[in-house]
Amino acid sequence: MTKHVKIFDTTLRDGEQAPGFSMTSGQKLRLAKTLESLGVDIIEAGFAAASPGDFDAIHTIAAEIKGSTICSLARCNDGDIRASGEAIKPAKSGRIHTFIATSPLHREYKLKMSKDEIVRRAVAGVELARTYTDDVEFSCEDAIRTERDYLQRVVEAAIKAGASTINIPDTVGYTTPEEIQDLFSFLTTQIEGANGVTFSAHCHDDLGLAVANSLAAVRGGARQVECAMNGIGERAGNCATEEVVMAINTRKDFYGLTTGIKTEGIYAASKLLASITGNPVPRNKAIVGKNAFAHESGIHQHGVLANRETYEIMKPEDVGVSTDNLVLGKHSGRAALKNRASKLGFELSDNQLQSVFVAFKELADEKKEVFDADIEALIMGETVGSQGPWEIDSLYVSAGSDENRHPQASVKLKHEDGRTLAAINEAAGPVNAVFMAISDITGHPLHLDSFSVQSVTEGKDAMAEAAVQVSTEFESYHGRGASTDTVLAGAKAYLDVINRIERRAVRQKKIAAQH
Ligand code: KIV
Ligand code: ZN
Repeated sequence: MTKHVKIFDTTLRDGEQAPGFSMTSGQKLRLAKTLESLGVDIIEAGFAAASPGDFDAIHTIAAEIKGSTICSLARCNDGDIRASGEAIKPAKSGRIHTFIATSPLHREYKLKMSKDEIVRRAVAGVELARTYTDDVEFSCEDAIRTERDYLQRVVEAAIKAGASTINIPDTVGYTTPEEIQDLFSFLTTQIEGANGVTFSAHCHDDLGLAVANSLAAVRGGARQVECAMNGIGERAGNCATEEVVMAINTRKDFYGLTTGIKTEGIYAASKLLASITGNPVPRNKAIVGKNAFAHESGIHQHGVLANRETYEIMKPEDVGVSTDNLVLGKHSGRAALKNRASKLGFELSDNQLQSVFVAFKELADEKKEVFDADIEALIMGETVGSQGPWEIDSLYVSAGSDENRHPQASVKLKHEDGRTLAAINEAAGPVNAVFMAISDITGHPLHLDSFSVQSVTEGKDAMAEAAVQVSTEFESYHGRGASTDTVLAGAKAYLDVINRIERRAVRQKKIAAQH
């Protein structure tokens, strides 16, 4: 059996479909490029039939990404499979992932189909998918709660119909390591046709066991793991890409297996996802959390200084966390910034470098020491955050506990068409007053669903990253902003959303004018 475990990353599909993690097409492409440079074997780019936006994102990713296989999810029906086939058409290597539920509960209450009917649908789905590509993956949704003899029957039929990857999802995060290892050992040795296909694990984290279960499936013979960066996904999420990869990597002695992941890119990919979706990574998150390589207690620090292996099983550099932390100052030039960005995992285009450089110089004027985390925040702000049409010209807030006066914000915005508009607003809090002033100036009354700020470096001049989630009557958006001033960071995050809404309206007008 091969020693290579394929990494099938579903950040852009299972991850993106979770509430609070939706991404625009452009953001998905950006992330797909990062996953490609990370060495992900298969990128599940979306669910083509879900919406025209999902279809377009998959199609664009398929046209641009050549280093990974691009996959679209499809239920076992003609419409879904044809949409997936069309969406992956431009791919150098494209896969259709078709699925149908097989467990008794899903058969009876969701599908209302007999066992025979489900087998017929599975076979027809795989056969239709094969007319678009030789690379067809078949999943039995809720496989873990499916009777073993019936699971065997469906899987054998799918293999005969032409599926080359068989995925066994733990859709509801119910299994345990011992159980799933046993199931994979059975499937990979007892199923007719098992030798010619790759078995895949897709574990959800409802019991906090997704990574452990995926590793156990690998011990049982799985050679593909489906996972998502930062563990995002339906409900409690999917198996975390960074965790399963680093477990296989760090415990080569035990698993004797490899993945194709260039692990030094992990940290940057995790940061990019957090920044795009506005969901910060918890400090104590394995591999990519801020504390993952921090040693606070005296005993630990003493041990690490004597020999880092006393308390470190991985080197921070292995996942792209730099220990060479203090980097640039106000005299540093573009080349140094570009070089540092590249070490942090960001390849900046000339245009991006220019805007990050301007922001860097402003920051270097404000701060004596510019740390890697500051630079990351700047890059995220300048390249992931929006670039107009609005920008903040000036902002001033007053706040306090005087019961006769409300917090007040005075905001001036510049539009790229040359207008400069101002508003003064009062509200229960200064951040709210700022948001209201921005809404008044731009004419976008948004509902604020959540607002969070976290500092990315230490000290009184630390950079703050703000994330907002807002909604209109029809849609929900997230935006982000970074600054040494927390209120300004919040204002930038709010304006990021408005800029996106306005840019999209302009694009839509252009498209309408062309037709
Ligand atoms: O969890 C699940 O069952 C899935 C399938 C569609 C593979 O995401
Ligand atoms: Zn899933």
